[in-house]
Amino acid sequence: MEAKAVSASRAEFTHLVLPPDTNALGTIFGGRIMEWVDIAAAIVSQRHCRTTAVTASIDELHFIHPVRLGDIVILKVSVNYVHKSSMEIGVSVEAEDPRSGLRRQTSSAFLTFVALDEAGKPTPVPPLILETQEDQKRFEAGRIRMERRKQQRLKRQKKG
Ligand SMILES: CC(C)(COP(=O)(O)OP(=O)(O)OC[C@H]1O[C@@H](n2cnc3c(N)ncnc32)[C@H](O)[C@@H]1OP(=O)(O)O)[C@@H](O)C(=O)NCCC(=O)NCCS
Repeated sequence: MEAKAVSASRAEFTHLVLPPDTNALGTIFGGRIMEWVDIAAAIVSQRHCRTTAVTASIDELHFIHPVRLGDIVILKVSVNYVHKSSMEIGVSVEAEDPRSGLRRQTSSAFLTFVALDEAGKPTPVPPLILETQEDQKRFEAGRIRMERRKQQRLKRQKKG
């Protein structure tokens, strides 16, 4: 299978925080960010594998700063690591105040997507071409996290 560069699927998504996205305090619901993160990661994973991919897991997601009504939310998304049928997708979430232009990171997340064939079975994904040192750093960190997740799954399965 032909390898693909990280840059071939990398993407940035922009949203405006509107009233239906917010709670009584005028800050965004965590669930809305989670939805945007999941959809953005689904798009990037499917751009890499060019087949259907489903969310297998989402690592811890922390909300570091409140995101307010009227803020611009930017999601920077790329494939960090691929194994056989699974891909780790990294998402960085930033909020920008449209008046001041001040931007800060509010969340980051790692999601695992699994590519499926037409029968709904896991299917191999293209290897990743690492073009930059940053790509290499992310790949190695993703490899370690993927290994840790596998160990944790095995432990859970043993516990029953
Ligand atoms: C994800 C899913 C396809 C894995 O199927 P499976 O039969 O357990 O597949 P396997 O055990 O053969 O594993 C296939 C790959 O998935 C990875 N994987 C399986 N479960 C995982 C999990 N919970 N977290 C991360 N990776 C996982 C495996 O490590 C393996 O990766 P590799 O091929 O790169 O080595 C299956 O559990 C599923 O369909 N889950 C529901 C997905 C879904 O509906 N998501 C939407 C939100 S509910």
